Amino acid sequence: MSGKLITFEGGDGAGKTTQVALLSATLRAKGVNVLVTREPGGTEIGERIRDLILHDPVTLVTAAELLLIFAARAQHIVEVIRPALARDKWVLCDRFTDATFAYQGGGRGVPAERVTQLESIVHHGLQPDLTLLLDLPVTEGMARSVARGKGEDRFESQDVAFKERIRATYLARQASAAHRIRLVDASAQIEVVQAQIKKLVLQVLEP
Ligand code: TMP
Repeated sequence: MSGKLITFEGGDGAGKTTQVALLSATLRAKGVNVLVTREPGGTEIGERIRDLILHDPVTLVTAAELLLIFAARAQHIVEVIRPALARDKWVLCDRFTDATFAYQGGGRGVPAERVTQLESIVHHGLQPDLTLLLDLPVTEGMARSVARGKGEDRFESQDVAFKERIRATYLARQASAAHRIRLVDASAQIEVVQAQIKKLVLQVLEP
């Protein structure tokens, strides 16, 4: 069995983290060697950068935010993702570069070409085998985040218009790369969402 990179995307409150955990349990039960990781983060330096980006009160200009995200990603790809794929692991990654197109591109207004340039420097051709886009209306995602009751990070505290731009960018990317990015209706119950995900993963990765 060869290694696979499966990424999970969506707005805040879409339930990615729960779904990653459920899928990893299912795959492990089938004997798949799974590695669960996340972005920004996934390495020691990446987690420190994550803290800076999400929780530090320092003002970050957009270019600094963008470069920090790609700095964390460069470390993550070389130190964690590539070695795991080389050992035939299935890497489940909670967010990846589609999030940069959506948040820094759609949200902050960074031109997509700029993100593509950094992607080519940092990825060296690496692309996810499958991306699951957990989509749900912005107001529903915000209500779920509030119900979860943890404090808001730098992005969760943005206004509705910012979050609508993120959702629209994700959906546009999905439409333009429909073979890789599969749409999942995240407004359903947890088990129903998981059933959709399982079906897509098995369909796409075990044809
Ligand atoms: P999460 O782990 O709860 O999804 O939080 C990560 C936050 O970081 C989320 O609000 C989206 C944001 N983010 C970006 O803005 N750009 C990126 O490239 C990534 C990976 C995450």
